[in-house]
Amino acid sequence: MSATAPTTLTLRRPDDWHLHLRDGNMLKAVAGETARDFARAIVMPNLVPPVVRGEQAAAYAARIRAALPEGAAFTPLMTLYLTEETDPADLRAAAEANIVQAVKLYPAGATTNSASGVRDFAKVRKVLETMAEIGLPLCVHGEVTDPEVDIFDREAVFIDTILDPLRRDLPELKVVLEHITTRDAVEYVRAGDDNLGATITVQHLIINRNHILVGGIKPHYYCLPVAKREEHRVAVRAAAVSGEKRFFFGSDSAPHLDPAKESACGCAGCFSSTIALAAVTEVFEQDGALDRLEAFMSLNGPAFYGLPANEERITLVKGEAQAHPGKIATPDGMLTIFDPGFPLHWRVEG
Ligand code: DOR
Ligand code: ZN
Repeated sequence: MSATAPTTLTLRRPDDWHLHLRDGNMLKAVAGETARDFARAIVMPNLVPPVVRGEQAAAYAARIRAALPEGAAFTPLMTLYLTEETDPADLRAAAEANIVQAVKLYPAGATTNSASGVRDFAKVRKVLETMAEIGLPLCVHGEVTDPEVDIFDREAVFIDTILDPLRRDLPELKVVLEHITTRDAVEYVRAGDDNLGATITVQHLIINRNHILVGGIKPHYYCLPVAKREEHRVAVRAAAVSGEKRFFFGSDSAPHLDPAKESACGCAGCFSSTIALAAVTEVFEQDGALDRLEAFMSLNGPAFYGLPANEERITLVKGEAQAHPGKIATPDGMLTIFDPGFPLHWRVEG
């Protein structure tokens, strides 16, 4: 550390533009972990059953507010799960009533709880047209599900065969390519226009596929899209620390209880909310980019969504290495927190 390296950092309170909060006991266990550091989060709708109608999103938002710790100032930004049956009128009404801020596209079968997702894009054309008309963003899980396509190629193939044709067909539609993992995605988003953005998770800044597979399978590093080769991690990380407006933080923090992860058929998802801000700050510091942290965490996301940046400021303070918090005990079992594999030094003051 040079003598001039900052040890405090003040930025607008950040937001998380892609988050899984689940429901019931899990929601109660994790809601406060996000609300501690983040002002708002785009909340994913892949509950069982999924959140498909405006009234379900409103009810889920109320459950999230009820699960927050006393005094937490946190606003859930709700999404609808796009199905081939989604009613454009219901979606329009939910957006106009400010109940939902985005719609989530899961290609059917792509990931956890995605069975009700889209198989035939012609069947959702009307809904997408409505969204383009009213400026409601589409959050995209960008992986093809074709069993012939290698899992490490599924994002790149999705961009070529589904996303690019969709954006050419409906250029006015605002699209967030979620949790990008490849150089291909970085290059595609950079080459796009202002209707295209991308979220980047904690884990995809830090791990590559070796972290999952070398020396034994590490189920807590397994998520979808799965981490790729090192060259892709480097490209994704360079995009995040660049501060470029198209790239913003979305943790994709996705809690599953330990037995569901540590299993012969383990679930996809890394639970990172607890350490997300500290880990991303550490990454930006490692890359000499602390001056761009606010763009990635607090400015680029709201600008894309057409929302004001948070007025409140937080101060991050650098101190001694903190012990990794390990696990959270929920009434239903233990939940492992993503381990970045390096010590964390930054915490929010106060
Ligand atoms: O790893 C993931 N977990 N990727 C997803 O797309 C879904 C998520 C979940 O809901 O667990
Ligand atoms: Zn997700």
